[in-house]
Amino acid sequence: MHTDAPSLSLDGDWDFRWSPVADVPLPGVEDGWGSLPVPSHWVLHGHGAPSYTNLQYPFPIDPPHPPEENPTGDHRRTFSLPSSFDAAARVLLRFDGVESHFRVWLNGELVGWSTGSRLATEFDVTPLLRAGDNELLVRVHQWSAGSYLEDQDQWWLPGIFRSVTLLARPTAPVDDVFVRAGWTATLGDAATAGTAASGRPSTGTGTITFPTLDAAFPVRFTVPSLDVDVTWDTPEDVAPITVEGVEPWSAELPRLYDATVSTGTAAGERAGGETVALRLGFRTVQIVGDRFLVNGERVVFHGVNRHETHPVHGRVFDEEHARADMALMKRNNVNAIRTSHYPPHPRVLDLADELGFWVVLECDLETHGFLFTDWVGNPSDDPAWRDAFLDRIARTVERDKNHASIVMWSLGNESGTGRNLAAMSQWVHDRDDERPVHYEGDYTGEYTDVYSRMYPTLQETESIGGGTPTPLMECGPAEAARQRSKPFLHCEYVHAMGNGPGQIAEYEALVDRFPRLHGGFVWEWRDHGLLARTADGTDYYAYGGDFGEVVHDGNFVMDGLVLPDDSPTPGLAEFAAVVAPIRFSLGERTVLVENRYHSASTAGLRFCWTLSRNGVVEASGRFAPGVVAARESATVPVPDEVLAAATAAPAAGEELWFDVTAELAGPTAWADTGHVVARAQRLVASRPADVPRASRTGWEGDRLGEGTFSARGDLVSWKGHEVAGPRLELWRAPTDNDSLSSQGGYETADPVLTAGVGDPDAPASAERWRDRGLDRLTHRLVAVTRTDRGLEQRVRVAAANSGWGVDVTHRWTLTDAGLLLQTDAVPFGAWDVTWPRIGVRFDLPAGLLDGSADWFGTGPLESYADSSHAARVGRFSAPVRSLGVEYSMPQETGHRPELRALSVGPFTVTTVGAHRAGFTLSPWTAQQIGKAMHPYELPTPDHTYLYLDAAQHGLGSRACGLDVLPEHQLWPQAFSWSVVLG
Ligand code: GAL
Repeated sequence: MHTDAPSLSLDGDWDFRWSPVADVPLPGVEDGWGSLPVPSHWVLHGHGAPSYTNLQYPFPIDPPHPPEENPTGDHRRTFSLPSSFDAAARVLLRFDGVESHFRVWLNGELVGWSTGSRLATEFDVTPLLRAGDNELLVRVHQWSAGSYLEDQDQWWLPGIFRSVTLLARPTAPVDDVFVRAGWTATLGDAATAGTAASGRPSTGTGTITFPTLDAAFPVRFTVPSLDVDVTWDTPEDVAPITVEGVEPWSAELPRLYDATVSTGTAAGERAGGETVALRLGFRTVQIVGDRFLVNGERVVFHGVNRHETHPVHGRVFDEEHARADMALMKRNNVNAIRTSHYPPHPRVLDLADELGFWVVLECDLETHGFLFTDWVGNPSDDPAWRDAFLDRIARTVERDKNHASIVMWSLGNESGTGRNLAAMSQWVHDRDDERPVHYEGDYTGEYTDVYSRMYPTLQETESIGGGTPTPLMECGPAEAARQRSKPFLHCEYVHAMGNGPGQIAEYEALVDRFPRLHGGFVWEWRDHGLLARTADGTDYYAYGGDFGEVVHDGNFVMDGLVLPDDSPTPGLAEFAAVVAPIRFSLGERTVLVENRYHSASTAGLRFCWTLSRNGVVEASGRFAPGVVAARESATVPVPDEVLAAATAAPAAGEELWFDVTAELAGPTAWADTGHVVARAQRLVASRPADVPRASRTGWEGDRLGEGTFSARGDLVSWKGHEVAGPRLELWRAPTDNDSLSSQGGYETADPVLTAGVGDPDAPASAERWRDRGLDRLTHRLVAVTRTDRGLEQRVRVAAANSGWGVDVTHRWTLTDAGLLLQTDAVPFGAWDVTWPRIGVRFDLPAGLLDGSADWFGTGPLESYADSSHAARVGRFSAPVRSLGVEYSMPQETGHRPELRALSVGPFTVTTVGAHRAGFTLSPWTAQQIGKAMHPYELPTPDHTYLYLDAAQHGLGSRACGLDVLPEHQLWPQAFSWSVVLG
């Protein structure tokens, strides 16, 4: 609780000694000590090393024992109590987080021990304190019985990683407060709730109750802005308070009311009391049938799983960084956080209350590694561990129970199932009868209130939502019926590892269709990369294996929407576009504006439009759909300028686009005025470009216009610069989703697949692609013939030891607009795999990498068939080096489909004809990228590679989820495309 009682921070530099084993004598003052900041993880300060595993326990599964090789850190410091502690009745020593087991001595006396790394511990140290110097010694062991309960997919990072504080407890204390602030719409007002012109919902009735008020009475409770000021003389006097005219709290409009609870106010003056500050958010959480409601309305989670991770500090809290991260979430339409898989630093919840997020607060519990023993010995069902489980959930709920943002408790993650989890649930229900209990591993729904799954297929999700019933995981008919009667959420979905995730829109479409589905939480918000340095001094972001771990899970810890250096990925832009709270449908004559907010009206937004011709804005303005209430929609006419443009015939090669945006009308705590919340566009009119006319001139030696060709028919120079190409390419540097195969894939010998049902045994795409030699195509010139104004080059492309390949014909013609290159690619032989891409590569000068590219086409970011909602057609410009994303493990990046025109350095590329190629500009070839495990392993670029792709395979999310859906797969087929090089 935030109290005005005195406290003393013990953070700072402590004496430190490290040992690789547990069994070492306790050091004395005179022993040699180094120094270590508290809070910190010693492995990030040169003592031992971090290690990463997903499910695996990095020690033998021999519960409850840790091995002797148990890194141990002794921490020592002295302090003396300030005079503000003089009047204290008791002094508590508080640890906010220590991984994983620690013992404490004060002035040579053992105070106690604790486990529960991400949970707070308080010791009463009153009798051990003395005047003057006090000596505090804390011994931390990395491994303990507790580690068996902390097998989360993340770095193992031992140490005192959160603050240590001494708390002076007053003689008339407030020891515990559990306050609940409920809200109901005022009768008669419900119809207009959410329409207030201020952008705030109308007010309603707030009810404040105290399930717990453990304090020295009399107690005074105030909510100044609601004119609440009551004093209760005895616990029996405490009564609910009802207030009218209260604005509700929601993730969208996080209205907080400051409140205080004070003791020691008997005679109107302080006498050994304290004042605790609370921030009340009025909201009522309910499950009604299969709906999860807050303030009477269904909540749809557009959430992320948030771990505590920082590239330099690990899990040590950095408030500024956390706030910036959460503001970035808000700017990307993230409205919910699951605190995977433990309670975060307590300030995160203050920020969630204030910025507005629906929070599923998860207990610090995971025993996933027992999967390797077939769950034999799993603590979740072993009575010997019952107290440990109950202790963890109690400490979780008690610390955070007063946060408005928390709307559900989660028992933990991936711990199998068993009696101890059921007991935890019972404990929560007894303590907090309002918030529902979540735990994904309760597949049959025995002891949880919501049905939750991670990474179910679209079919399963549809079935759970109410579509054709299919069997539910681990459920018999009765259990399935029980699960189908509950609200459903994806506690994890659309795994954001590397380039991806695909299919966000497909999941969202189901949430739109079935009200039983309440959205979900992307896995996950950030990559957990740790800043490290190579032997030759290059900084990089490390993942599993980079610290020489005995067992590790590689780059599976790099699966976030945000890169370790805080850059948002295109996957985040895709998420923001798909889940945008405003949805537009652009018709020929009308614009439909749908408000998908839970409770906010559109009063806080402004609506803008533009009409552009070939990417250049020609007209623009605002439109006013009026204040649209939450869950309502409005229609406005298309602006006259746009209507007029639709009827006037465009010139050849012209495209007219009508774009609309919903933008913030004023600044918020997380974005400036003008921040775009949602956008849409519609092609108003277009006319294909004419195929350029053949030029009057022709060959001059080897030169054709601005190009020079080799005898083989290759372009060897362009505008006086040495170049190479075109060279057919089918390979892309495999994405994590191409390389991994957590679930079945669709790649089967028989490409005719029943929609959505993959082959569970299909190997990863990249494996099959490599097996068929797509990364090592060879080329055989079949024929090259010069024509009057060009040449025709035919090449057969295939891999070693394969009878399948692609016959390519390149037809070059000199035209008035430049060199027209028409490419036909026709597969031959018995192809039985998808293609990563089909396109050609040109090797252009490396010097282009230092300049920028301008293009009219899709952008601003890369996009792929199943991740294309954030892309729009427009005119964009970007430094060439920024066109690709620096994924933590190098992989395919930078594809921008449907190019119209590109200019880079002296070169221009214009697509002509119906099938527009996409483009990629990269410092490396797909083969070079595919070989590198970290960005620093990429060679010094010797070219700028331009790929012009007729098509690319989709992304999927198969690293942990679905393969590329059939409709987004690229199966071998003939392609023709044309470009003009100018
Ligand atoms: C889930 C798990 C997460 C993470 C994810 C894969 O099974 O709950 O912690 O491991 O898979 O990245």
